[in-house]
Amino acid sequence: MKFFIDTANLDQIREANDLGVLDGVTTNPSLMAKENIRGEENIKKHYVDICNIVKGDVSAEVIATDYEGMIREGKELAALHPQIVVKVPCTKDGIKAIKYFTDNGIRTNCTLVFSVGQALLAAKAGATYVSPFIGRLDDISTDGVELIRKIVDVYNYYEFGTQVLAASIRHTMHIIQCLEAGADVATCPLNAILGLLKHPLTDIGLEKFLADYKKVNG
Ligand code: E4P
Repeated sequence: MKFFIDTANLDQIREANDLGVLDGVTTNPSLMAKENIRGEENIKKHYVDICNIVKGDVSAEVIATDYEGMIREGKELAALHPQIVVKVPCTKDGIKAIKYFTDNGIRTNCTLVFSVGQALLAAKAGATYVSPFIGRLDDISTDGVELIRKIVDVYNYYEFGTQVLAASIRHTMHIIQCLEAGADVATCPLNAILGLLKHPLTDIGLEKFLADYKKVNG
């Protein structure tokens, strides 16, 4: 399972990358706005900065909602750096654009996916990744992790090559549940990643080891 961090914050990306277990980054227009990255050139520079920190894939989302605009923007984003994966919303024009990008060797992440039907179209169009948003489904009393499980089953049954990238992960337990559901990738906030480390028995055990060492070594 691959681990992506879901942020446009360079410090958090560096911190996660320093752990040595980071496989990539996802961003979206809201995450970029949160960091106050504005203007086409600054936005592009920010994507390149992210690519220079991590080794893996970096999702950069198109803003256009029409087919021609998505193609133009997607080509520009893909040309920024070989690690860029063009993130495209799961709309009619988005699916058409993903098919175009697939046919032209540009990798894609189909975003804003909330159903198996949408995931099917993303896979048929050849998306590299599909991003079901589990937290946003949980927010409306629908089981987000169950959607991951269903998409994984369908993709495995029909042998689609699209990787299931669990997105909108809100906490550590979501990561574990996505792992159990068979997601190929989990994109997580830094806190959720760090939460995986936490166990009181680890803290107690370490304290005891150090105390015992001190007893005999001074
Ligand atoms: C990442 O690819 C998604 O855009 C992101 O995980 C959405 O998360 P949110 O639902 O917490 O905004």
